[in-house]
Amino acid sequence: MKNERWTAARIRALKGHERIVCLTAYDATTARLVDEGGTHLILVGDSLAQAVLGYDTTLPVTMEQMLHHTAAVARGARRALVVADMPFLSYQVSDEQALRNAGRFVQEAGAGAVKIEGGVFRAATIARLVSNGIPVLGHIGLTPQSVLTLGGYKVQGRSDPAAASLIEDARALAEAGAFAVVVECVPQALGAALTEACAAPTIGIGAGAQCDGQILVLNDLVGLTPPETTPRMAKRYAETGETIREAIAAYRSDVVSGAFPGPKNVY
Ligand code: KIV
Repeated sequence: MKNERWTAARIRALKGHERIVCLTAYDATTARLVDEGGTHLILVGDSLAQAVLGYDTTLPVTMEQMLHHTAAVARGARRALVVADMPFLSYQVSDEQALRNAGRFVQEAGAGAVKIEGGVFRAATIARLVSNGIPVLGHIGLTPQSVLTLGGYKVQGRSDPAAASLIEDARALAEAGAFAVVVECVPQALGAALTEACAAPTIGIGAGAQCDGQILVLNDLVGLTPPETTPRMAKRYAETGETIREAIAAYRSDVVSGAFPGPKNVY
C-alpha cells in the first residue's frame, strides 16, 4: 500500500485517522516536487488564472487550458491523487455538460477526480458524476467562481443563517457522494462545525485547524506570489521569488563581466 497512488476512496477513508495534505500545482515539474513532498492530493486549481496566466480572477480560464495543465500535472505526479478543477461555465449549464467535461479530465488528461464549486444546489450534479464513476471534490464557503455575486473575496458564513446554510451544503455534498469538501474562508469555529457535520473529510483553506485536511496555493506557500497579494489564510514557507531574483541578478552580472560561462561550462 505504501507506494500505491492515493485514490479518492482512500482519501475519504482518512477522515478521523490522519490529516490530509493537499496543494495546488500547475505543471509537471512542480507536480513532481509536490508529489515527492508526500502530498495526498494535488489540485490543478483554476487559480491557474492568477498563479500562472496573469488574470485577476478565475473566470477567464477555459476547459482547454485546464486540460493542458492537468495533463502536465498528471505526468509529473506519481503517488498523489490529481484533481482537476472544473472551470467557470464547464458544469453550470447542465448535468450533461458537467458529465461530458468531467469525463474529458479523466479520459484525456489523466485526472483521478474533479472539483466543482457549490452547495445544496450542486448536489444533483455531483451525484450524477459520482454515479457515472467520476470522483468529485466539493467546494463551499468562498467560491471564487461566484466572486461577482459575492461582491469580492470575503469571509463567508459570519451570520447564524449563513453558517447554518453552509452546514446544509456540507451535508448535502457528502450525501451526494463527494469524497471530500474544500471549505474556503470561513470563521474557524464554523470550520470545526462543518468538519463535525460533514461525513466526508473537510479540506480547509482559511477555515481553521479543525478541518480534516488543509490546502494552499503552491505559489503562496513557496513565496512566488508578491507578499502584498498573499492572503492572510496562506503561510509563506519560503521566499522562492527572492531566490529567483537573486539568481537572475548574479547571472546578469556574470554575463556582463564575462565570468559566465566559466571553464566548467564550456566544451
Ligand atoms: O483554484 C484553487 O486553487 C482552489 C483552491 C484554493 C482550493 O480552488
